Order: sequence, then C-alpha cells, then structure tokens
Amino acid sequence: MEKGKFIVFEGLDGSGKGTQINLLVEEMKKRGRRVYRTAEPTESSTGGMIRDALAGFVKRDEYELSALFLADRIFHNINQKNGIIHFLEQGIDVVCDRYYYSSFAYQGTNADLDWVMELNLGCKEIIRPDLCIFLDVDIESCDSRIEKNRFSREIYENKETQKKIRQRFFEVFKRLENSENIRMVNAARDISEVFADIISIYNEM
Ligand code: TYD
Repeated sequence: MEKGKFIVFEGLDGSGKGTQINLLVEEMKKRGRRVYRTAEPTESSTGGMIRDALAGFVKRDEYELSALFLADRIFHNINQKNGIIHFLEQGIDVVCDRYYYSSFAYQGTNADLDWVMELNLGCKEIIRPDLCIFLDVDIESCDSRIEKNRFSREIYENKETQKKIRQRFFEVFKRLENSENIRMVNAARDISEVFADIISIYNEM
C-alpha cells in the first residue's frame, strides 16, 4: 500500500494556520484522500504540562521545555493508537499544526539551537515531513490578530519575542534548505489568495 503524505504547517502565533489547515484538509478529502489532522503540543499528558508552561502557570526553563516538546513529539510519532507513523503506514495523510521547526524557532532562541536541532533531527523515531508550509506574516499583523482573538497571552506572545522567533525560523529554513522540502507563503493577504498558493504547492507534491 502507498504510504500517506505528511504535511506540516508552521508560522507565528496569529499567522492563520488553523484556517488554512481546515481549508486544505477539506480539499484533500474532496479529492478522495483520507486525512488525519493533528497538532503539537498534543493532547497527551506531556502536552498538558507544556500548555501549563505556555500559559505561565508553571515556570520552566527553555531546556526543560525543549525536552518536554521532544517527549511529546516522540509519543506523537510512535503511539499505536493515533500516532503519525501509524496513520501514514495505513495510507492516511497527516496534516500537522506545528512540528520540530517550532522547537527550533521558539526554544532555539534561548536554548542552544544546535542542541535543540540535534535532539530532534538525531532522533530516529521523529520522522521528516514530506512538506513544510511556512505561513509568513509580519509581526504587526500577527500581534493584532492575537490581540483580537485571545483573552490572555502565552509566554511567547509578545512582539519582541515574536520578532526573534521569526528571524530564527528564517535561519533554520536556510540551514535545512538542502535536506527538507520547505515552502514559504506570504500569509498577510486574503484567506483565498493564501489558500490558492497553498493548493498550487500541494499540487506539485
Ligand atoms: P497553541 O496556542 O497551542 O497553538 P497556535 O498558537 O499554534 O495556534 O500554541 C502552541 C505554542 O507552542 C506556540 O506558541 C508555539 C509553541 N511551541 C513551541 O514553543 N515549541 C514547539 O516545539 C511547538 C510544537 C510549539
């Protein structure tokens, strides 16, 4: 049986990933694909620990957070019930909201980037996506979207930090350009225009 395709979306907080993922998943299903939509951090107990830290309820340092995201990601890959590898092997496509690129950009801004990359890329249980789509939006637009849609801000959701994270994303994509399929989309446009670009990238897969 042909294996499923593994597609990851990345972008800053407020870049519109959720909306575009919904549109793509719907379109893939219309075309007869079986699709599993998922996200990181996951709903596992490690994911819960991560969310407490992101909300600021529990203070954790960036190395601890890197390790928590790593453990969550390993579980996300290999668990037998709703793990990524399990679905791909059954021919089901997986579309994931955030993956290790977020660890590189977010944790890799304060923890050592080489260390965070090695942890993830050196782990044989964490598989490489077939495609990563980065929705790029300027800091001001992300910030106003966060302001409009959220009741409270998470630890990374301030302009200064987001600016550094965006730079880190670019740096990481440059490092990975020969080993991974990463595509940038200007997401500071109408939903339908952004989606048109995503579909043409998807069609090339
Ligand atoms: P969440 O509110 O769950 O989703 P989103 O903002 O993507 O709609 O936030 C997830 C947060 O977790 C986001 O701020 C990025 C952060 N994150 C990391 O710092 N490292 C990681 O490895 C991942 C997967 C996410």
